Amino acid sequence: MPHRLLNRIGTFRLLQVMKAVSDHGSISAAANALHLTQPTVSMQLAKLAEAVGAPLYEVIGRQLYLTEAGWLAVECATDVMDAVDRLDASIGDLSGLKRGRIRFGVVTTAKYFLPHLLGPFCKQYPEIDIELNVGNRQHIIDRLKNNKDDLYVFSHPPESLDIVINEFLENPLSVIAAIGHPLLARARIPFGELADYPLILRERGSGTRHAIEAHFHQQNRAVKEKMTIESNEAIKHAVMAGLGLGILSEHTLTQGDTGQLARVDVVGFPIVHHWYWVHRKGKRFSRAVEHFLTSIKDREPSLITQPFVAREH
Ligand code: PGA
Repeated sequence: MPHRLLNRIGTFRLLQVMKAVSDHGSISAAANALHLTQPTVSMQLAKLAEAVGAPLYEVIGRQLYLTEAGWLAVECATDVMDAVDRLDASIGDLSGLKRGRIRFGVVTTAKYFLPHLLGPFCKQYPEIDIELNVGNRQHIIDRLKNNKDDLYVFSHPPESLDIVINEFLENPLSVIAAIGHPLLARARIPFGELADYPLILRERGSGTRHAIEAHFHQQNRAVKEKMTIESNEAIKHAVMAGLGLGILSEHTLTQGDTGQLARVDVVGFPIVHHWYWVHRKGKRFSRAVEHFLTSIKDREPSLITQPFVAREH
């Protein structure tokens, strides 16, 4: 009989619930997100497990883990929902209305400029919904692996995945210090001298940290770590408070920081990397995503760069 499994599953809702459990990491969080009760979500998962004929998750300690069958079901749910989104966008196009949804997965540092890029697009296409998923590089690589979003922004795309990469903007990393720091009175500070200073660094898994460690490694120096903080904003505050030097993407520095922070002039800095649009090879885009890609093609990148904190000398 054709579509045997489809007939057994019966309703998209079961797949939607499965995907929500994977997205939110637990049955209770999925229930919250879907405005359902926990027993309803558990029951729907049990129905889906019965339909596919294999357990979809297991609970060890208090943590829920998807089984291999669970991951396959999530992949199927994602494909089905993507196809429905594409249908929605195409039907919208038929009636002249550009609508749909675009899911972005972006590294933490990109959240400083991405809204500037999305703004004009959202104004032009008010019926297209945007979902912005933000996390550090490792977290976003995991989303990419699991095909959770349409488009990704990385400065350091993963090397081992089958992906398409398009460069679009520079990402300079600069050394910053609190106003009044003695290094700010000097120019062309040798890298070796900077390497003697303890740094306030982003957490492991961060692309910024990855770039800093690679740079130090290239110069045969180890990074002296004073403190690890999971947020660019909190690092700026730690630097302002005189706890140490930081190395951050210039996108994170805004006019509001002027007067409290300044760039240190170190030889070899800024370390210039780039931002890339990334998507999985073979990804089928909805019309909404295609409209977005067309709209950014001709954008002047300088329009989305940030204003800047000064040097002191
Ligand atoms: P991060 O990523 O926010 O994880 O540091 C920035 C980057 O990839 O350079």
